[in-house]
Amino acid sequence: MKSFMELARERYSVKGFSERKVEEDKLTQILEAGNVAPTAKNNQPQRIYVLKSEEALKKAQELTICTYGASTVLLFTYNQQEVYVYPGEEAFDSGAEDVAIVATHIMLQAADLGVGSCWVNRFEPAKAMELFDLPENETPVLLMPLGYPKEGVGPLPNHTAKKALEETVKYL
Ligand SMILES: Cc1cc2nc3c(=O)[nH]c(=O)nc-3n(C[C@H](O)[C@H](O)[C@H](O)COP(=O)(O)O)c2cc1C
Repeated sequence: MKSFMELARERYSVKGFSERKVEEDKLTQILEAGNVAPTAKNNQPQRIYVLKSEEALKKAQELTICTYGASTVLLFTYNQQEVYVYPGEEAFDSGAEDVAIVATHIMLQAADLGVGSCWVNRFEPAKAMELFDLPENETPVLLMPLGYPKEGVGPLPNHTAKKALEETVKYL
């Protein structure tokens, strides 16, 4: 069995998917991993739209050039009424953070099942609202194409280019 560190190291952003579809049981497992993620006050404001129909995928392709041929794309939003508003910081709430940790669980569970993914924020949230007729109280955060890498697709050279721990971690 792979250790968590091996899984985390091996995961990479897939930027070219084959036609092979993500199996239903794997997709369910992937979504369930998101469902057990922590969120502020356990409010679970995340909403996940599974874009799989021809019509939905066409809209996803209209929204971004970064679906990379995937036949399943997840759209993550949060419900503004369900976020945790930080006390004394009315302008700040947990919405984006909650979605980020849910999406991270999903990305790593997918990798554990051999399913590739890419975190995509190259899209206009307003256009996503319009194309998918999202409720007004939701904020789109990211898209995540899922699937199996096309032949010849692998990690980009920058995948292993990480800053030294000393540059990003400070002991006080
Ligand atoms: C917040 C965030 C936004 C990203 N947005 C995009 C995107 O819009 N399009 C894309 O192709 N990749 C996107 N990526 C993937 C990054 O380019 C990729 O994670 C980074 O280059 C490191 O590569 P690796 O994931 O293979 O290690 C995004 C990643 C993160 C975490």
